Amino acid sequence: MTTLYQHTPVLRDEAVRQLVVSPAGVYVDATCGLGGHSEKICEQLGPQGRLFCFDLDPRALEIANARLIRFTNVHFIQNNFDKMKVELHAAGVRHIDGVLYDLGVSSMEIDAPERGFSFMQDGPLDMRMQHDGTTAADLVNTSSRESLEAIIREYGEERFSGRIARSIVETRPHTRTGSLADAVRRVVHGPHVNKSLARVFQALRIAVNHELESLKTSLDTAITLLNPGGRLVVIAYHSLEDRIVKHRIREAASDCICPPEAPVCVCGHRAEMKIINKKPLTPSDEEIAKNPRSRSARCRVAEKL
Ligand SMILES: C[S@@+](CC[C@H](N)C(=O)[O-])C[C@H]1O[C@@H](n2cnc3c(N)ncnc32)[C@H](O)[C@@H]1O
Repeated sequence: MTTLYQHTPVLRDEAVRQLVVSPAGVYVDATCGLGGHSEKICEQLGPQGRLFCFDLDPRALEIANARLIRFTNVHFIQNNFDKMKVELHAAGVRHIDGVLYDLGVSSMEIDAPERGFSFMQDGPLDMRMQHDGTTAADLVNTSSRESLEAIIREYGEERFSGRIARSIVETRPHTRTGSLADAVRRVVHGPHVNKSLARVFQALRIAVNHELESLKTSLDTAITLLNPGGRLVVIAYHSLEDRIVKHRIREAASDCICPPEAPVCVCGHRAEMKIINKKPLTPSDEEIAKNPRSRSARCRVAEKL
């Protein structure tokens, strides 16, 4: 039996209010997860409206499917959101009126020890959002110390990346999250150890799932797919993702993308998006009190010209 998760997603009402510009429109939830945002989107749609829900994780889509069973205009696609264009074309859809990204992993994924996303519980060192591909164990057991250090520094923004990478290499092979966490604890002590652990696990997760590359590809595609007036709404939880989103939206909203030192414009670029909120939307104190995991959320909204 499929469990129905009755969680409330981050910035649900605000994100969906920004997204749905027409009840008869075609929308994409690029990160359907357990279907919380999708449910709210479906409630705003009229009989003509359609929603396409993407997720890499088949288990998440199974739960979302059960949750959204009462809506007939929803289509589930188990694939990476960087394949949005090809999947939508296959469904006969050339343009969309809005796309929502709620990036990262779901609570269900983080809280399941067997998925290996969390250092809080011991489990296999997996971290894949889908069933195939390289696991975190493959990555940490076969990468050079230098590339592990680069992953932890760049994707985790962790200042002790050098000593952590050395410790991981000295104590490998690692097949369990607990063993990887112990390798970090060998060289990071004191009150900040959990922050370092969170950063190391985040870095490996990003590398295993090629998260930043997929995001960049998908944002480019989403911008081309949007109808005039269509909305791009992105909720990010860490600065690496938020920076990518901010820069891509800024570029799309700019009439010139020449380097600042260029004396005259030669790029011929023309703005194709309008920034809706200069400052990202953030959860209220009340939402953070109810759901502490929402505290780092930043939501950016842009509209196709
Ligand atoms: C934060 S959760 C989304 C939660 C969702 N908004 C809800 O209301 O339940 C992020 C989801 O995106 C999925 N995901 C992450 N990267 C993805 C990608 N590149 N393509 C498709 N799905 C992805 C994860 O598997 C996860 O289920």
